[in-house]
Amino acid sequence: MTFDEVLKARRSTRAFLDKDVPDSLIKELLADALRSPSSTNTQGYRVAIATGATREKLAEELTQTYDRAMKVKKQALPLKIVSSVFGGVLPNGDFKADLDYPKEMKARAIECGKGLYGTLGIERHDREGRERQMRKNFEFFNAPVEIFLFIHGKKGVSSALDGGIFLQSLMLAATSRGLATCAQASVALWGGTVRKYFEVEEDYKLICGLSLGYASDDIVNTFQPEKRSVEELCFKLS
Ligand SMILES: Cc1cc2nc3c(=O)[nH]c(=O)nc-3n(C[C@H](O)[C@H](O)[C@H](O)COP(=O)(O)O)c2cc1C
Repeated sequence: MTFDEVLKARRSTRAFLDKDVPDSLIKELLADALRSPSSTNTQGYRVAIATGATREKLAEELTQTYDRAMKVKKQALPLKIVSSVFGGVLPNGDFKADLDYPKEMKARAIECGKGLYGTLGIERHDREGRERQMRKNFEFFNAPVEIFLFIHGKKGVSSALDGGIFLQSLMLAATSRGLATCAQASVALWGGTVRKYFEVEEDYKLICGLSLGYASDDIVNTFQPEKRSVEELCFKLS
C-alpha cells in the first residue's frame, strides 16, 4: 500500500474476527511506531499488551464493572450514591473523563454518535441500544489484542501529544499490514482495573486503549464519519 492508501484505509473498527495476531507481528508494529517523533526524543510513553487469557480476564472484569455501573445509573438518587461508592463502579482511571465539549466540538461529537448509531439501526431514544454498543468497548470489540497506552504523568501535555503521535503511527503501521484498530479512551475510565494486570510504573498514567486485530464484515465497520474541509480547518489571516 502507498502511504496515501494507508491513510485512507485506516478507520475506527468496532467489530473484529476471532483471528489471532502473532506476537511477532505485534512486535513489528510497535517497532514501527517507535520511529515516531517526540518532544526532544523523550518518548514519554509505555504500553501494556493484553492477549490470550489476560485479555479474556480483563474484558470480563471491565464488562462486569460496566454492567454494574449501568445498573447503578438507573437507581433512584440516595441508593445511587451508596451503590456507586460501595459498589466499586466509580471510575478509577488516571484522568478524569471529560465529555463536556465546547459547542463547536460537541456538534461534531453528536454527528458522530448519530452516524454510528444510525449505521447500527439504534434509534435516538434507545438508551439500552446505545449502552449495548458502549459495552462492546469493554469487550475490546472482540479484538484479540488490546494495547494500553500510558504516558508519563509528570509531563502532561507534552507526553499526551507524543503519545498521540505514537498511537497514530501504530494505527497506520497496523493498517499497512492489513490489520484494523480502534483507539479507545473509554477503557481508561477504569484504568485502576487495567493496572492490576501489569507491572505499571507509578509515574505512568493510562490515557487510551487500542483494540487491534482483523476487521469483520459487521455493518458497524462501514461507518465513516465525515472530516472537515481544509478551508474549515485553517484560521484566516487577520
Ligand atoms: C483518542 C481517541 C479515543 C477514542 N476512543 C474511542 C472509544 O472509546 N470508543 C470508540 O468506539 N471509538 C473511540 N475513538 C474513535 C473515534 O470515535 C473515531 O476516531 C472518530 O469517530 C473518527 O472516525 P475514524 O477513526 O474512523 O476516522 C477514539 C479515537 C481517538 C483518537
